[in-house]
Amino acid sequence: MRPNGRLAVFPGSFDPLTNGHVDIILRSAHLFERIVVAVLVNVEKKPLFTAVERVAIIREVFREYSNVEVDAFDGLLVDYARRRRASAIIRGLRAVSDFEYEFQMALMNRHLEPTLETVFMMPAEQYTYLSSRLIKEVFHLGGDVHGLVPAVVERRLREQQAAGVKG
Ligand code: PNS
Repeated sequence: MRPNGRLAVFPGSFDPLTNGHVDIILRSAHLFERIVVAVLVNVEKKPLFTAVERVAIIREVFREYSNVEVDAFDGLLVDYARRRRASAIIRGLRAVSDFEYEFQMALMNRHLEPTLETVFMMPAEQYTYLSSRLIKEVFHLGGDVHGLVPAVVERRLREQQAAGVKG
């Protein structure tokens, strides 16, 4: 089956979604006809949010964007992209430190599926230092993450904290 040249997959753990991710999704939604935000199910042994919760959060953030779809996936990314007939994988590049890991992944994915291109996008400068890992750490140590994550993520973090759940 031929890939759909206008569909791109933006894969990630999104645990949690940050404003850097949001920025990349909005930029890619201008470039491609349709973006599928693909949430990796088995991110680590104890993710902060379950895959179902991560999908629900991202859906809420993008509920007004008809060309942004949110889905969960497991297994190889290239298999998922093939099933969706995507022509591109979107990845965000924040700094040189991202490069080596991203380069390895892009080339491995190309080895596995030569027709699938990886497209790198840079977020707005104010998000270049953001990562899900830092958001979790800062929040759990009492730091302010306002403006760094969407309001719904902030709310869910507070709800989890109130319920006594540790990330
Ligand atoms: O947001 P992340 O955690 O940096 O995203 C990493 C992700 C989900 C893109 C990567 O771990 C992935 O593609 N996992 C699926 C399994 C797979 O295909 N592994 C081979 C990658 S070369």
